[in-house]
Amino acid sequence: MTRSLIEQWFPAATVGAESLRERGTPRALPWVFGLHVWWARRPLSVSRAAVVASLLPAWPDEDEVRADPAAQRVLAGLRAEFTEGEDEYRAWFVRSLGVLGNPALARAQIQAAVARGETTGGNAYGYERAFRWSPDEKTVELITRLASLRAHVEPAPVLLDPFAGGGSIPFEAARFGCSALASELNPVAAGILNATVDLPAVHGPDFAEHIKNWGARWCERVGERLGPFFPHVEPDERLAYIWAHTVPCPTTGHPTPLAPDLWLARGKADRDVAVRLDADSETGAIAREVVEGEEAHAYGPRSTYKRGTGVSVFSGETFSGDYIRQRALAGEMTDLVHGHRAAVDAAQAAAVLFGADPTDAGEEAIAFVAAEVPSSRRSAGTIDDAAALLAETGLAASKSDARRLVDQGSVRANGQVLTTLDGLRDVTLLHGRYLLLRKGRRHHHLVEIFPGRG
Ligand SMILES: C[S@@+](CC[C@H](N)C(=O)[O-])C[C@H]1O[C@@H](n2cnc3c(N)ncnc32)[C@H](O)[C@@H]1O
Repeated sequence: MTRSLIEQWFPAATVGAESLRERGTPRALPWVFGLHVWWARRPLSVSRAAVVASLLPAWPDEDEVRADPAAQRVLAGLRAEFTEGEDEYRAWFVRSLGVLGNPALARAQIQAAVARGETTGGNAYGYERAFRWSPDEKTVELITRLASLRAHVEPAPVLLDPFAGGGSIPFEAARFGCSALASELNPVAAGILNATVDLPAVHGPDFAEHIKNWGARWCERVGERLGPFFPHVEPDERLAYIWAHTVPCPTTGHPTPLAPDLWLARGKADRDVAVRLDADSETGAIAREVVEGEEAHAYGPRSTYKRGTGVSVFSGETFSGDYIRQRALAGEMTDLVHGHRAAVDAAQAAAVLFGADPTDAGEEAIAFVAAEVPSSRRSAGTIDDAAALLAETGLAASKSDARRLVDQGSVRANGQVLTTLDGLRDVTLLHGRYLLLRKGRRHHHLVEIFPGRG
């Protein structure tokens, strides 16, 4: 096969400058980058240049033409399209990428102006960012025709990207009329590829309508649920919200915030600013006031959470990391995400994991427990050999270790201390099928028992 253009020549300075321009302003990044962050995502400008230059033929030199009939055919095809020769071909290639000026020169001029403390004014490049340009049909047809001179395949070439990541290469290949095959190991990147390359290519412009409709419904639902936490009043002078996790104060039950300090700004623009919290333990209300100067120094360093220990703004009492973890599992965050019923279930699950009697827990709560601790499904027959069960679930290191743990009274089954290994047969299963084994205070294993001995 004859050489590709990229093997002969590549306008690296031009494409490099255009790629830097593409990345220069976070606000003007390509739209496809907005769906989800992906690492080592390549600029679209360099991706399209590499794709097209890999498909197009090199301009064969005299030696190649003499030695290879295929090179003669390529040269004839190129000359038919570019009657003024190789320079015309190269200039067309650069324009086909959407590069309609000299971005390397424009960049140098911008840098020189900045060094002089001046601005160039307007668009120093003289044309839109290249990636914003989608090639027209005529350009795509010509690229396909020229690619076929070299590859002897028609119509559109197929491009393979075996490590496709965020999809810059298959995205540009699709824009330039190729069928693209993309492979990716990571499911997040595979999702990005599906959403930004595959589905738009399959559904065409109609896909945008689907996205708009579903996006609007999603915004509406999120708005309904989160709106109350971000009240909007007119005129609204708030610039941003600062939020903190909360847990119920152990004494009053009111949500108390967890914050490492109460500073809002220290030394920025020569100002020290903090927030002063005045908590009312009767009503649970927390009045907030922004304070500066001396007062900021009094309130800023106050902490309601440090190194795993919280302090209630209502009672001043401290509470432990265990308490915070338990409440986090059971508390308002769960309520916000899953709704009230799920919060109650999660609260029961948390209580069980922190030692409460599991026979009081509903079936949904046991499902929450299953999500938090190792679990397995086993036949009813496994209950007959408690030592083996404890060893297989990893709660005991071996069957003899299991015997020792039971003798010490360190194992509970569905909340009851197991005094003998045989005692496991008498334990009532939770909801007719669950056996929650616990070693010591922290180590759990949930077994779902199905009928039979197999
Ligand atoms: C440098 S990134 C590719 C970036 C991509 N060109 C873009 O512009 O977004 C390399 C990708 O290869 C993927 N990868 C690594 N090993 C792989 C494998 N064996 N098979 C498929 N994908 C793999 C990684 O998950 C990563 O997303």
